[in-house]
Amino acid sequence: MSRFESRVGTTGDATAGTHWGETGMSDARIQELEEQIQLLEDQLLQTQRLSSVGALASSITHEFNNILTTVINYAKMGVRHKDAKTRDKAFDRILSAGQRASKITTGMLAYARNSSDRMEPVELNKLLEDVLVLMQKDLQMHRIGLDLDVEPAVWALANSSQIQQILMNLIVNARQAMDEGGRLKLSIRANAAENWAEISVGDSGCGIPHEQLQKIFDPFFTTKKTDARGQGGTGIGLSVCRKIIEAHQGRIRVESEVGRGTTFTLKLPLSKSPAGLIDTSAA
Ligand SMILES: Nc1ncnc2c1ncn2[C@@H]1O[C@H](COP(=O)(O)OP(=O)(O)O)[C@@H](O)[C@H]1O
Ligand SMILES: [Mg+2]
Repeated sequence: MSRFESRVGTTGDATAGTHWGETGMSDARIQELEEQIQLLEDQLLQTQRLSSVGALASSITHEFNNILTTVINYAKMGVRHKDAKTRDKAFDRILSAGQRASKITTGMLAYARNSSDRMEPVELNKLLEDVLVLMQKDLQMHRIGLDLDVEPAVWALANSSQIQQILMNLIVNARQAMDEGGRLKLSIRANAAENWAEISVGDSGCGIPHEQLQKIFDPFFTTKKTDARGQGGTGIGLSVCRKIIEAHQGRIRVESEVGRGTTFTLKLPLSKSPAGLIDTSAA
């Protein structure tokens, strides 16, 4: 078993007023470049967020197809049979199919649009639920089983759409590492002693060789070849995960064993549930 924890806080420590010796760059020029880098990093984050939605295009299209089939068939049934009982049933089915579709589009739009970087108390099991609405069909289509081990009412101080982005990236990677019949294990727990909220994403996939473990968080590091549909790795996913975790002053670590699987663990600052909010999680 090999492990690696991405070091946080090694970047961005160039203090104001630093001179770059021979280069002769002025402080103003350095600041201008730093601002440009920041802008590009923000854009990369947003672009990567949209491309992670792209990875789900095929499964979500399938799901919508199924929903439409349901709607059409029950509408036909309702038209054909005039009795109240059959019509009620048809309406019920059409309604729940429509609600399912609306949940997916709402989740999708919220995820794609939200580019704020505000941190606030976030309930992690609720957040994971939102991610699973978008990802469940993809797992189903690839015959991946899901094990959930989720402590209720774990709150972290976080930006929810950025944490969703990390989970999408980790879950897509996990799924890609597994063959049919693989198992994805998602867990959430509060580590009160160390003041962390911990989320882990484990898979029973191919694992990562020891010598690659240090490199996987590097931008553009990928082992995925372009497939027949032109889809391959970009090597951006985990580097974006690391950036986001740095901004949260959290940790990301990976444990892997070739042939047995990989587990990524995120640690985020634990937060109290917002005051005044009624805790319904015990229900
Ligand atoms: N769950 C996993 N199992 C095995 N290998 C993984 C897993 N997650 C990431 N990797 C490795 O890390 C590399 C970088 O991942 P990532 O940054 O998401 O880029 P990409 O998915 O585009 O290749 C992958 O190409 C793969 O080699
Ligand atoms: Mg990836």
